Amino acid sequence: MNKERMQSNEIRERFLKFFQERKHKIIPSASLVPENDPTVLFTTAGMQQFKHYYTAPENALRDFDTKNVVTVQKCVRTSDIDEIGDSTHHTFLEMLGNFSFGGYGREEAIKYAHEFMTEELGLKISYVTFYKGEGVVPRDEESRKIWEKIGVKDIREDGADVFWGPTGDEGPCGPTTEIYCKNANGQDVEIWNIVFNEYFSNGSREKLDKGGAELKKLSTLGIDTGMGFERLLSIVQNKKSNYETDIFNNEQTREERIVADHVRTAVFLASDGVVPGNTGRGYILRRLIRRAVRFSKEQLQSKIEKVKKVYEGVYDLDDKGEIAKEENKFRETLDKGIREFEKGADPFILFTTYGFPIELTAELAKERGTEINRAEYETKMAEHQRLSQTSSAGMFKGGLANHNPKTIKLHTAHHLLLAGLQAVVSPKIKQRGSNITEERLRMDFSLERKLTEEEKREVEAWVNDKINLGLNVERREMPLAEAEKIGAEMEFGAKYPDIVSVYFIGGKRSDLKGAQGLTFGSRNDFVSMEFCGGPHVSNTSELGSFKIQKEEAVAQGIRRIKAVLV
Ligand code: ALA
Repeated sequence: MNKERMQSNEIRERFLKFFQERKHKIIPSASLVPENDPTVLFTTAGMQQFKHYYTAPENALRDFDTKNVVTVQKCVRTSDIDEIGDSTHHTFLEMLGNFSFGGYGREEAIKYAHEFMTEELGLKISYVTFYKGEGVVPRDEESRKIWEKIGVKDIREDGADVFWGPTGDEGPCGPTTEIYCKNANGQDVEIWNIVFNEYFSNGSREKLDKGGAELKKLSTLGIDTGMGFERLLSIVQNKKSNYETDIFNNEQTREERIVADHVRTAVFLASDGVVPGNTGRGYILRRLIRRAVRFSKEQLQSKIEKVKKVYEGVYDLDDKGEIAKEENKFRETLDKGIREFEKGADPFILFTTYGFPIELTAELAKERGTEINRAEYETKMAEHQRLSQTSSAGMFKGGLANHNPKTIKLHTAHHLLLAGLQAVVSPKIKQRGSNITEERLRMDFSLERKLTEEEKREVEAWVNDKINLGLNVERREMPLAEAEKIGAEMEFGAKYPDIVSVYFIGGKRSDLKGAQGLTFGSRNDFVSMEFCGGPHVSNTSELGSFKIQKEEAVAQGIRRIKAVLV
């Protein structure tokens, strides 16, 4: 076998078969979204789906009819995201691993690894490591002796690097032995990590390192191994970079590699049900897609297709159009956002108005040799979130969930529409419900009758007039009593905190300098004043042209308008 030509699919198959022949059951990769561990964001290691078997090994036999299993596991690790672009780091990786819950111990684990590497793959081991011992964990003499018996010459002792800590807030852990090989660049790289789970830590790795967690000896020794597939491939195929192996397309520049890496991870995450969003997993996915978009002049679609092709028959990949959707949303504001950034725009505005994740703004700043004020951003975000979460968000309880620029524009138009209905049809009109998407706004309001055609046209004209006037939109925080006094629109039946957020459209700028103790003049100074958490555009001239599409009844005394901006 010419090892340089061994392809990715063959290596995966050989690995699984090798262990199957040695009494391991092949288990499919678990989802990237961990099912049984709320303490971690993503699956980061092969052992994660088996974590609980190390403390209850009898369950492995019950669930698998064997104590030994083998997997090729999808993993996402975002801690190295800033290093993506070099030849070896990735946010997504596959991990080949064999596991045992009381089925075998150090000797078999080490021998299997040695045999697979040297005989199946024809690789030469550079050196191996073993744990030197610390605290309650003794020096791993047993592993050292096994390697010696096998005939490996270079055996090195190591410290914390060869102690596998718990994944998440607690879990099994123990000393490891690592296998190193030379890559095509002549460097020794770690290929395989064999963990001997002999302990249980009641705290995270960080706590454990700081002495804030305790190790308890497990009754049964567990085996957990991990071999990073991308790195292994580059060695087997004798390539100077992981991007030259058959699972990539020979990306050479940092930008090309970032795009290839991030698109691949995004396809896998979206296929496992993650949807781009503003928190948690969704935020990571959004960040990856937006970063890829920034570095790719072309649409990402052809890259998405390439990823699907590479993994055809190995994984079922379907991003359900989520990546393109997110890409399109972001491309619309990317150039404008970058221009705003060049003009010195605030990171908070770049996030809320242009959808720039803070990390992206930080990166842009770094590229230009400057830094952003992260603390200030965090303060503004915390405030923003607080306002969205309290009922001071007014009609948008929980805030405007979607911060897409189109949605934000419709949100401002929504305020104008309510004011327009009051001005043209009746000052008694109250809002009774609302819903805004990227495409349209919908408002329910109180009125005992249908609007006439003429009224609709007049309301439309009123709103468009305010758009054409280019009125400022400003947010002020003020005491609830003050906001009530000036007659700002409130949500029917809502409970408000002592300090509320109110959006003003029009009016005199000088009136908006401060909130506390200020007289806001008459209602006529502003075309709209509403309790609301935002966000909104900063000037009505950004809205385009307002159009009512439909007016209909939804209940006794409640009408509904659907409207768009064109
Ligand atoms: N769980 C170990 C790792 O991921 C094998 O390196």
